[in-house]
Amino acid sequence: MKIPSFLDAKKRNKCKTSIIRNYIVDNKYINIGLNKKYFIRTYGCQMNERDSETISGILEQMGYEKVYNYMDADLVLLNTCAIRENAHNKVFGMLGRLKNLKESKDIVIGFCGCMAQEKDVVEEIINNKKFVDFVIGTHNINELPRIISECGDDRIIEVLSNSDYIIEDMPSKRESKYKAFVNISYGCDNFCTYCIVPYTRGKEKSRLKEDIINEVKELVNKGYKEVTLLGQNVNSYGKDLGYSFTELLREVSDTGIERLKFVTSNPWDFKLEIIDLMVNRKNIVPYIHLPVQSGSNSILKSMGRKYTREQYIELVNNIRNRVKGCSITTDIIVGFPNESDEDFKFTLDLVNKCKFDGAYTFIYSPRFGTPASLIEDCVSFVEKEERLSDLNKLINKYSLESNEKLLDKVVSVLIDNKSDKDNMYVGYTDTNKLINVKCDYNCIGKILDVKVTCAKSWSLYGEVL
Ligand code: 5AD
Ligand code: SF4
Repeated sequence: MKIPSFLDAKKRNKCKTSIIRNYIVDNKYINIGLNKKYFIRTYGCQMNERDSETISGILEQMGYEKVYNYMDADLVLLNTCAIRENAHNKVFGMLGRLKNLKESKDIVIGFCGCMAQEKDVVEEIINNKKFVDFVIGTHNINELPRIISECGDDRIIEVLSNSDYIIEDMPSKRESKYKAFVNISYGCDNFCTYCIVPYTRGKEKSRLKEDIINEVKELVNKGYKEVTLLGQNVNSYGKDLGYSFTELLREVSDTGIERLKFVTSNPWDFKLEIIDLMVNRKNIVPYIHLPVQSGSNSILKSMGRKYTREQYIELVNNIRNRVKGCSITTDIIVGFPNESDEDFKFTLDLVNKCKFDGAYTFIYSPRFGTPASLIEDCVSFVEKEERLSDLNKLINKYSLESNEKLLDKVVSVLIDNKSDKDNMYVGYTDTNKLINVKCDYNCIGKILDVKVTCAKSWSLYGEVL
């Protein structure tokens, strides 16, 4: 049994990252899943979605077949998220349903992802969730075949606090044939005081540029239209290797992929040369997700964010002035410990100045082991809820305004999937706006010119020209 420790996760050694290549599922495991079905539920961010694609790839090499209803599965995996308390609650709710299912059916239940890196969660599973057959952390999903083969009468708990290696060439079953996520770095060294990610995902490690470029080239050859480069902080990509994100972005753009995106950008590492590149390269889409978290300088300081509201606003203005039609979205936390009314007003004021195209907004959720969770807080939850509601109203107003500007305009849309509305398909504009388009099945996977006919706060409607 290997259980993680936050103290270990905090130790960041300067040890060079090693790369493990040519991963294969050992022959002795490849028949374990024959005639068996697996179900995987993914909670949280795109990083987890990408990990689930890798997990699915491994399971399918073991012979398992994917199903979309957990009631039909022989193996159920929960790929969990730890970012806020409500993510925890959803996972524990699902575990309750799985416990019931296991009473009527012989299934294997596996627990992985960020919650598996939390010591208290693992202990809860060990002591009170005896129906969970194995727990595997974020650093060792390569060990999945062995762990599945070994778990039976014994439960297996294998979680590493950190890792100094990157495993290349893992199998992967991508969810889409047109849009792909490509990891460029793993982990985070920023330690914003509210955030659990640096503990659950470990130290920041960049993939080699050549490996990323080769992966994108392969996707282009397979007909993929869109690539999103993924990292907790894309702008610090390459610091450990001696090259920059700008260099990487330029070279990925050279592969000729039709649409290139990147998330998540960090305001204090954001180099202006990225803006130049966005202006000059047609395939880098005009969309930037730039989490601000708060509009108050004193809260930004206690959050450990290394910029001021003035610097952030200047950056947003710079992007808007230079990258035509660029859509900028953000993340905002309300109710950080001891956030005053005045601090909150600074946040509203920043939103008024930046006029975001969209935002994800959250009530602060204390995470065990993070510095902010130790701060005594004098703000009531009701007050925090009121602030969230006021903030959301303002965010909705600006996202509607931004969408209305597109009315009667022609936008470029990658059609993704059938919508639940009749004769409608869902797609995304190059500015990452969700749009329902009247078209037919043959349009899926194509980038089309669409005329916008209706604009709502969180979506657009349109017709193919
Ligand atoms: N409480 C609330 N929101 C959080 N986020 C990260 N940690 C917390 C927390 N403890 C939000 C941030 C981040 C997004 C992914 O989740 O806004 O950008
Ligand atoms: Fe968390 Fe800050 Fe790292 Fe983002 S940059 S993952 S908010 S610690």
